[in-house]
Amino acid sequence: MRVFNYMKTYLVTGGFGFIGSNFIRYVLDNKKDVYIINVDKVTYAANPENLADYSANCKFYKVDIADKTALSKIFIENKIDCVVNFAAESHVDRSIADPGIFIKTNVEGTLNLLELSLKHNVGKFLQVSTDEVYGSLGASGKFSEDTPLSPRSPYSASKASADMLAMAFFHTYNMPVLISRCSNNYGPYQFPEKLIPLVIINALNNKYIPLYGDGKNVRDWIHVSDHVKGICSVLEKGKLGEVYNIGGNSEAENIDIIIYILNKLNKPHSLIKYVKDRQGHDRRYAMDFSRINAETGFLPEYNIEKGIDSTISWYIKNESWWQEILSGDYKEYYKKMYENR
Ligand code: NAD
Ligand code: DAU
Repeated sequence: MRVFNYMKTYLVTGGFGFIGSNFIRYVLDNKKDVYIINVDKVTYAANPENLADYSANCKFYKVDIADKTALSKIFIENKIDCVVNFAAESHVDRSIADPGIFIKTNVEGTLNLLELSLKHNVGKFLQVSTDEVYGSLGASGKFSEDTPLSPRSPYSASKASADMLAMAFFHTYNMPVLISRCSNNYGPYQFPEKLIPLVIINALNNKYIPLYGDGKNVRDWIHVSDHVKGICSVLEKGKLGEVYNIGGNSEAENIDIIIYILNKLNKPHSLIKYVKDRQGHDRRYAMDFSRINAETGFLPEYNIEKGIDSTISWYIKNESWWQEILSGDYKEYYKKMYENR
């Protein structure tokens, strides 16, 4: 229950996931006037342990955002000031194998949240989006907010659809919508299907590191705590109806990320195994985030070396967190994805 009337209630979806849980911890640690309602379906990517010790000023509903009836009850039971929509199917490889659930959650779920937020006069709606909606870059250039949308995977197509719906609600109904689009996150509590935690964990276990294609695809890496601060800046200072790119200023080829981690862990480079490329693999992402910088002052604080070093330390210290994942359904997923690749 919200304790004081001066408090603002944020409905945060996907709060047991990687970025959502980092966001909730940051907000509860730093903003004493915010009460959180966490709406999460608890998919394979969720872990309630991510919010252990964060039950004060935080209430949880196990609800699928694609289930409008269940979602509607939350809006009736609570006066919501702000919605921050993290909930999504988030992994590109899974979207290539099985796109349907990406449309259900990322598109239909977002539409439900938009409709209910409009109906209940929510004061602000922030759609958490991704640089992948812009497509793929060649050797030079960066994505700006004016870059046309050109998604190339089922995941990015579903995220671009959600962005367009959110913007349509701003233009059609004058709904107070904001969109943030961020580059590749890494840091504590990231599910090990994603490159950086996968490399750290496989290296610690002396297992081979699957590197797609020629290993020279480029991503602009950002520490999750910088992303979370960027989202708070957009929520506090962003202009309604605007899109804000958030980037880490840390472009790197996949091979270089892997070699950096192997060197840090004193593991041999022979662990790297070049495997069949991802279908439709986007070559390069890079973010021009001058708008959020100019309008809110946001700048990422981590450089990539400091960020990866602290992430490696987190995974070493929190082995029980990822061992539990490795001993569950993840085994089947890993076999399906990497055996015979
Ligand atoms: P994640 O996969 O770690 O977590 C997703 C969370 O959403 C999980 O807790 C899951 O249970 C929940 N969820 C999934 N389907 C749901 C549904 N139908 N109803 C309610 N909850 C549901 O994802 P993440 O990496 O934390 O990404 C969070 C958001 O940020 C996503 O919208 C993603 O597109 C976006 N994003 C991610 C990155 C990145 O690098 N990870 C970068 C930019 C943007
Ligand atoms: O750019 C933002 C996006 O970053 C987010 O919107 C997505 O939710 C998030 O999953 C991430 O997408 P990527 O596909 O870029 O991240 P992933 O960690 O899956 O892959 C990073 C790069 O590493 C990519 O070029 C593919 C490559 N890769 C990945 C894995 C899992 C490998 O070479 N081997 C692997 O085993």
